[in-house]
Amino acid sequence: MVKVLFVCLGNICRSPTAEGLFRFHANNAGIKDGFTQNLYIDSAGTAGFHMAAPPDKRAQLTALKFGVDIGDLQARKVAPQDYNDFDYILAMDEDNMSKMLQNCPTEHQHKIHLFMTYSETSPGITEVPDPYYGDKEDFDKAYDFIDRAAQGFLKHLQKNHSL
Ligand code: 4NP
Repeated sequence: MVKVLFVCLGNICRSPTAEGLFRFHANNAGIKDGFTQNLYIDSAGTAGFHMAAPPDKRAQLTALKFGVDIGDLQARKVAPQDYNDFDYILAMDEDNMSKMLQNCPTEHQHKIHLFMTYSETSPGITEVPDPYYGDKEDFDKAYDFIDRAAQGFLKHLQKNHSL
């Protein structure tokens, strides 16, 4: 099984969008996910501000425009066990990546990557900007970036794992 964790700050905007969108693309490619499947997908935040909250309404509405329903997801904070449990820990930006590198045991640090590095269609873009204090356009932009990285990451998994 390949286990993938998407990580942002609050786990209510970018990483639940990445979780839902990556699940959508994987399922459309015939790859099911879940505890009994070969792929397990989750998301979390480096901060615990919004524990157990659903995704921000603006993130939910942006995803719904594209047929992706993330309304059932619940925010949680990255836990120390996550560094052990997950194979890929994909940070939305440098800040959250460096926070995790400070807490992650050395032997698991190779699992932590910037999510955007998997995009094949947005050269030079390394981060998904935080839309939380922004407007609708910022949510659309974050969604577009996440979509590009999710598709690239799915290709990476198909190439490198037997999915
Ligand atoms: P996210 O966005 O990290 O993409 O979920 C944020 C959500 C909440 C806050 C900041 C960013 N906040 O400061 O509460």
